[in-house]
Amino acid sequence: MLNKKILVAYYSRNGSTRKVSKIISEMLQCDVEEIYDTKKREGMWGFFISGRDAMLKKPTIIKETEKDSSQYDVVLIGTPIWAGNISCAVRTYINYNKDKFKKVAFFYTSGGTQGDKIFNDIERLCNKKSIANMGLTKKQISDDMYLQTVNEFIANIKQKLE
Ligand SMILES: Cc1cc2nc3c(=O)[nH]c(=O)nc-3n(C[C@H](O)[C@H](O)[C@H](O)COP(=O)(O)O)c2cc1C
Repeated sequence: MLNKKILVAYYSRNGSTRKVSKIISEMLQCDVEEIYDTKKREGMWGFFISGRDAMLKKPTIIKETEKDSSQYDVVLIGTPIWAGNISCAVRTYINYNKDKFKKVAFFYTSGGTQGDKIFNDIERLCNKKSIANMGLTKKQISDDMYLQTVNEFIANIKQKLE
């Protein structure tokens, strides 16, 4: 049993990042913080402004969060990829919390985009090196093969926290 306090903090517009976050938190038996964006992002117009806002690296207004991120040994931050970037709500959450993070790990879900760009962007934003990263595409999430990847991500985190 890992004697560490872990928080999974994520934003999800359509449910994929939520699904992955729930599984991670169940496997780690840790706390979860869903980040809520107050900006209307539904429908085609919502899709358009979200892509534009993400590309412009625009912060947004998020609902007040419940967990104190400074109380955790590590915060696992999950975001969907929007127009090749971090979602606006996660960008805002990091802006508010980055000085409180002790250790961070990152994961994203995407429609198909893969690569280290997002991880580099989040590291820069947090001003901290990540202890573990995971990226999952929609296709990987739709067949349950992704559970193996989640297991590896968790094993990696546990090893770094030992
Ligand atoms: C505004 C917007 C922009 C997106 N841009 C990309 C992208 O650049 N590359 C990509 O692979 N997927 C892109 N997607 C797809 C999402 O990253 C993908 O569906 C993700 O799993 C959604 O996570 P969620 O269900 O937690 O919201 C975009 C989705 C939205 C809503």
